[in-house]
Amino acid sequence: MKFFEGCTALITGASSGLGVEFARQLAPLAHCLILVARREDRLNFIRNNLIATYPNLDVRIFKADLSQETDRLSLAQWLQSQSILVNFLINNAGLGDHGPFATSDWNRVRQILDVNITALTHLTHLLVPSMLQSGRAAILNVSSIAGFFPVPNMAVYAASKAYVTNFSEALRMELRPLGISVTALCPGPVPTEFFAVAQRPGSDFQESPFTTPEFLLTSAAEVVAEGLRAVANDRPRSIPNPFLWLLITLALALPICLLRILISCYINRKNR
Ligand SMILES: NC(=O)c1ccc[n+]([C@@H]2O[C@H](COP(=O)([O-])OP(=O)(O)OC[C@H]3O[C@@H](n4cnc5c(N)ncnc54)[C@H](OP(=O)(O)O)[C@@H]3O)[C@@H](O)[C@H]2O)c1
Repeated sequence: MKFFEGCTALITGASSGLGVEFARQLAPLAHCLILVARREDRLNFIRNNLIATYPNLDVRIFKADLSQETDRLSLAQWLQSQSILVNFLINNAGLGDHGPFATSDWNRVRQILDVNITALTHLTHLLVPSMLQSGRAAILNVSSIAGFFPVPNMAVYAASKAYVTNFSEALRMELRPLGISVTALCPGPVPTEFFAVAQRPGSDFQESPFTTPEFLLTSAAEVVAEGLRAVANDRPRSIPNPFLWLLITLALALPICLLRILISCYINRKNR
């Protein structure tokens, strides 16, 4: 974990779930943490807790709705005005929507595209030029195992994560020779607020991390520890659960025609 010693890390989606855990695990090592999300009260609470334990840690918070281009630009301008040089960018903010695409709320769909794809890409675009000056820097993009497959009833979310994984891989090839390592973290189900947020009002879908078999669940602490290990070891991607890793590796070896049948059968059985 030497890479993180004295680093300046910007964590999006730092007000809950994996984002808070990234802050907790980096706190003993980092020089400065920049916590970004919409819920400022939560960010303040997390900041105060971190500073109480690590008084020398510089923790800044920035309230931003990352779906808004103006907020993303303000964040970049603020970093510049504060002379903060980020050398570890964690693009973690994200959201999903659980239910059929045909009945989805367009505002929610647009929010998924804006946060999961556009904000991640724009923030990376805004920060890469200054990261290139850091000597060694890293980007960790939080994707999902959903990005490896088409996922009915989470079609837009899964497609957005396919973008994240693919974008990360290509970016890695461009930036690695220039000193920036890029990693895609691809967790399976993690018990956070994610599933409550993805649940539609009044929906009777019972998909939640708590209905997932125990061995496929991974705690936020394990996911983050594995993600940070992957960055420290300069790995292109990480699936932080050995059972899931095996399942995904086997599934990816199957032809798409067979995968379509298996996924359809699984979804139909779940919806019965
Ligand atoms: N939990 C899982 O099972 C799971 C599995 C695979 C991948 N992931 C991915 O892991 C990442 C973190 O999710 P999580 O599980 O920690 O979920 P979470 O607890 O719901 O956290 C999501 C974070 O994203 C932030 N966010 C959402 N919309 C935003 C916006 N418009 N502007 C700024 N921040 C925004 C939220 O902050 P505010 O609401 O305060 O803005 C929150 O801090 C996501 O990218 C998710 O897709 C999660």
